[in-house]
Amino acid sequence: MALVLTTINMKGGVGKTTLTVNLATCLAKNHAKRVLIVDLDSQISATLSVIAPHDFSRLRKGRRTISYLIDKVIRPYITRKYSTEHMIVPSVADVAGLDLLPGDIELYDEYTIAETLYKKATKEDMGKFSRVWQQFESILIQTVLASVRDRYDFILIDCAPGYNLLTRSAIVASDFYLLPARPEPLSLIGIQLLERRIEKLKKQYNPHLNVNLLGIVFILSGGMFSGRYYNQVMQRIEQDFTANKIFKTRVPMDVNVAKAVDNFTPVVLNTPNSSGSKAFLKIAEEFIQKV
Ligand SMILES: Nc1ncnc2c1ncn2[C@@H]1O[C@H](COP(=O)(O)OP(=O)(O)O)[C@@H](O)[C@H]1O
Ligand SMILES: [Mg+2]
Repeated sequence: MALVLTTINMKGGVGKTTLTVNLATCLAKNHAKRVLIVDLDSQISATLSVIAPHDFSRLRKGRRTISYLIDKVIRPYITRKYSTEHMIVPSVADVAGLDLLPGDIELYDEYTIAETLYKKATKEDMGKFSRVWQQFESILIQTVLASVRDRYDFILIDCAPGYNLLTRSAIVASDFYLLPARPEPLSLIGIQLLERRIEKLKKQYNPHLNVNLLGIVFILSGGMFSGRYYNQVMQRIEQDFTANKIFKTRVPMDVNVAKAVDNFTPVVLNTPNSSGSKAFLKIAEEFIQKV
């Protein structure tokens, strides 16, 4: 059974997608693991990091994206031809063992979800609405992944910024979460807020739910590599988190990382000798050690 991991941070632009895609690529290519990338962000950055836009358009026209599967859970009364295995694009970026469950620019219709759950709740009594909602949230992503879990070693889920329905559902479906962050005071507060929310989810949904932080990966922003301020921030981080919850490798700012996106190829394949690529290779090694 695959180990399921979710990459989260309520902030956008902190390197969630870059981490997910490059870690997944390294695990498949350098460690011969079977890996599935799941794109839960309607900005479809993870999808477009490994397949070209015209290929994505073709998939979308054929309704071969995760949207179809989410809708299937929301409206189970409609008969469907396809299941999760039909939606998966195998060997993306020409890497054997690296598969993608493509994202979509329209992931779900909030109104339909609310209406469906409302109907379900009112059949019994209104006090049940929050319970019906929670039940739905807790099974949504689990249901989408259930039939393919035994085909992979790792399933890496890339989430949108914020803390939406899909993110919460992905957390509930996960064994671990990965937290990319910049070493800044406000992002530390963000991490603490997120941890509190996840604790709340655990209590709310499932007392047996056992999702844990695998580690924080620091992405260094420009100008923060050295100096007193950076050291102060890192000291605070080391006080707040035990050493095993922080990846030793930090991802440097490297223009090659940003440029790789232009070729719809992860940087570890596009410019394997760049400093960014080397960091992701080391992170993959640390990751294997940790899990
Ligand atoms: N180490 C890095 N060096 C340079 N650019 C980076 C690096 N990591 C991410 N980027 C760029 O920063 C932007 C945001 O990264 P992304 O992974 O999409 O963040 P998120 O998924 O958290 O929104 C992207 O344009 C990406 O190419
Ligand atoms: Mg992203």
